[in-house]
Amino acid sequence: VKDKELIRGSWESLGKNKVPHGVIMFSRLFELDPALLNLFHYSTNCDSKQDCLSSPEFLDHVTKVMLVIDAAVSHLDDLHSLEDFLLNLGRKHQAVGVSTQSFTVVGESLLYMLQCSLGQAYTAPLRQAWLNMYTIVVAVMSRGWSK
Ligand code: HEM
Repeated sequence: VKDKELIRGSWESLGKNKVPHGVIMFSRLFELDPALLNLFHYSTNCDSKQDCLSSPEFLDHVTKVMLVIDAAVSHLDDLHSLEDFLLNLGRKHQAVGVSTQSFTVVGESLLYMLQCSLGQAYTAPLRQAWLNMYTIVVAVMSRGWSK
């Protein structure tokens, strides 16, 4: 119960427009694993990581990612209601060449963004609460990968 309050409160405190936070998250992701940039076929039009991150297609994807997190935060009491959606989302990511191992780096990038965006409010229990939710989401998405 405490976990949910921590997650909801911190997510709300990021403000209405989550895209800038998503950009921090994906900048971090591409810093940790630059090869992931190539999975976005539209990335060939970019000269640099920064160019990519400000391109409309990237911002679209960042927006979609933030909407998925938003859906998870709004459904903390019944995450299983998102199962079909997340399974399918996993399938789509397998299709574009993402491997399930990459979700570890995505998780680190999410926590990095929260740390940057929340400052003092980023505490050990808060970090753990987010990690718990993220682990559930990723577990469901990973079931979308066919072996
Ligand atoms: C679609 C890549 C992580 C949510 C896509 C597409 C690519 C992609 C190439 C298709 C093109 C597009 O719609 O822009 C990646 C990579 C990731 C990643 C490389 C990190 C390793 C995530 C995460 C989420 C997410 C963590 C949310 C939790 C979505 C959504 C779509 C999408 C909602 C649209 C799916 C649809 O068309 O129905 N992703 N993605 N992605 N991604 Fe990701």
